[in-house]
Amino acid sequence: MSTKKTVFACTECGNETGKWFGCCPQCKVWNSLEEVTVTTSSSSSANKLGARGTAGPVELRRLDTIEKKPQDRLTCSINEWDRVLGGGLMRGSFIILTGDPGIGKSTLLLHVAHALAQKYSVFYFSSEESLEQVRTRAERLGCLQSSVLFSDQARLDEIIATAEIKKPDLIIVDSIQNCLTGDNDLLPGSVGQLKEAAFRLMRLAKERNITVLLSGHITKEGIMAGPKLLEHMVDGVFYLQGEDRWQTRILRSIKNRFGTINELGFFEMCGAGLQEMPNINAHFLEEQSHAPGSALVSSIEGSRPLLLELQALTIASQYGIPQRVISGIDPKQVILIAAILEKYLHLKLSASDIFFKISGSLKIRGNTSDLGIALALLSTFFQQALPSQCLSIGEISLTGQIKPINYIGLHVNEAEKFGITNLIVSGTQKIEKTACSVQRFKHVGELLSLFE
Ligand code: TYD
Ligand code: MG
Repeated sequence: MSTKKTVFACTECGNETGKWFGCCPQCKVWNSLEEVTVTTSSSSSANKLGARGTAGPVELRRLDTIEKKPQDRLTCSINEWDRVLGGGLMRGSFIILTGDPGIGKSTLLLHVAHALAQKYSVFYFSSEESLEQVRTRAERLGCLQSSVLFSDQARLDEIIATAEIKKPDLIIVDSIQNCLTGDNDLLPGSVGQLKEAAFRLMRLAKERNITVLLSGHITKEGIMAGPKLLEHMVDGVFYLQGEDRWQTRILRSIKNRFGTINELGFFEMCGAGLQEMPNINAHFLEEQSHAPGSALVSSIEGSRPLLLELQALTIASQYGIPQRVISGIDPKQVILIAAILEKYLHLKLSASDIFFKISGSLKIRGNTSDLGIALALLSTFFQQALPSQCLSIGEISLTGQIKPINYIGLHVNEAEKFGITNLIVSGTQKIEKTACSVQRFKHVGELLSLFE
């Protein structure tokens, strides 16, 4: 016997309550409770300790008797995709690709499906768009002649049954928010449906060793629609994000059980879909301005160094409280470096407005750019450009010392590949070999010699 009851589930944390609250009692997020109908089995009460019901003992096994499943990766000709995934899609993994509506998720999935179908069997369930719409897109991308098999089936039971019987290497479900589960008479995309759909697809991936790739929307606030629970269930969460210029799309790994996080892949949206941008550093360098206030730094994102231009502008403040307008980097980092320069170089930066940004609208973290920040600020302050093709890498301590950084070889190799000829580093930085001319500074006080 099963009965239906209504509960309220939080779209943020998945917490369920018997009545509606304006604010979730668990995660304290406002307006996040949604009505969900759940089916409960009356036999569940009989399954308590001492009332075993029909449940029997489960089979317990030694680990060495467990069959090893093939752990290979599904790789394709789209290198940017493979790299962000950690070297291709792991077989039997359960992955979600998410991003704003219209950003290009379906386009990317179609490219990936087509590329993978050259070697593997791929089923594409388009629960969101009709097959005619998918055909139009495929024509645009030039992949109409593809071995991918399509269906516009949105019912999860049928999708799972098809995968179980036909055993493809990969199924793509575009999108999870549009899947209908079981006899649930709720609209697709509600918390209950999402949880159930994700759970059943996860079981399909793990038990049948079939890779499951989902697409999912994000909300206005920029978080994945549906409970956070979905993020915990999947092996990987990948965001496709837009960028202001060049129609660039950035694929970013947020969670990846089989690779590094914060790995970035670059694509350009053009008339024939998303094209890879393997030489993204060449694009960044082309844009560099070689003017006062510009400094080049190298920042490791995921496993790859990105060569980025920092742009600083300082002017004497017209108001009582000087302005600090900083984007793409933690504002505190820039303010701290400005304070160090003021202390040891006696420059009146605290009386200046500071504007600071990173070209390409990217965000960087870590301290390897400290030296670049200092040089960008000094360069604008003295209105003198740094030498051209010059990369600065180093940390700055509160005492003004310029410190060496780890993995310098990675940065130097990338810099040389793109024609950098000058390096500015810490006085104690060890560099195994480089063709660049290297200028070394131990303390920020010595940096003034660059602006004489
Ligand atoms: P789509 O993949 O449908 O986005 P999502 O699945 O994330 O909602 O992409 C839709 C957008 O991409 C739409 O604005 C048109 C644009 N686009 C191109 O510019 N070129 C193309 O070749 C394709 C297929 C789409
Ligand atoms: Mg879509």
